[in-house]
Amino acid sequence: MKRVAILISGGGSNMVKLVEDMTGDHPARPVLVASNDREAGGLGKAAAMGVPTAAVDHRPFKGDREAFETALRQHIDASEPDILCLAGFMRILTPSFIRAYEGRMLNIHPSLLPKYKGLHTHQRALDASDTEAGCTVHEVTAELDDGPILGQARVPVQPGDDADTLAARVLTQEHRLYPAVLRRFAAGDRGRIDLG
Ligand code: GRF
Repeated sequence: MKRVAILISGGGSNMVKLVEDMTGDHPARPVLVASNDREAGGLGKAAAMGVPTAAVDHRPFKGDREAFETALRQHIDASEPDILCLAGFMRILTPSFIRAYEGRMLNIHPSLLPKYKGLHTHQRALDASDTEAGCTVHEVTAELDDGPILGQARVPVQPGDDADTLAARVLTQEHRLYPAVLRRFAAGDRGRIDLG
C-alpha cells in the first residue's frame, strides 16, 4: 500500500477528492495533509476525514526557503510518504527539496501545459481568445510547471466566460483528473490519462 502525503495552501478541494478516492482497492492511502498556512481550510477537512495534518507557516522564515522546507520536511518525512501530491500548494520549492522527492512528486496545474506556466492561467487563456482550457497533472521537476505530463483534462471556453467561470469549470475536471492519475501512478503506471 503506497503512502501519500498531500501539500495544500488553501481550501484543499483537490486534496479532498484525492483522499475520498483512496479507499477500497486503491493502491494508496493518505498519511498526511500539510500546509504552509495554519489557517488553510483544507486542514480542517483533512482532520474531519481522519487524515493526520501538519502546518508550518512560511512567513516567519522571511524568504529563507531552505529553512522553511527543512521545517516542513520534518513533518513530511515523519509520515514516510512514498508519493507527494501538491494540490493547490502555492509555494515554489527549491531544487534540493524537489531532488528529495523527484520521481514520486505530482502537481496539478490549472492549464493545458506547456501553455500558461505560472499564475493567472485562466485570464491568460481568455486574453488569448483560446477556445479551450483545462488542467494538467505532471511530475514535479526543478523547472516550474514543466515535468513529464501524466494527465490532462480539457474544457471549452464559453462566450461570456470570465476567469472565475472558467476556473470553476476547470476545477470540476481537476477533481476528476487528479484522482485518476494518482490511482494509476500509485499502481506503478505512468501512462498518460486524457479526459475530454
Ligand atoms: C486550483 O485552481 C488548482 O488548479 C490549483 O490550486 C487551486 C486551488 O485548489 N492547483 P484547491 O481547491 O486548494 O485544491
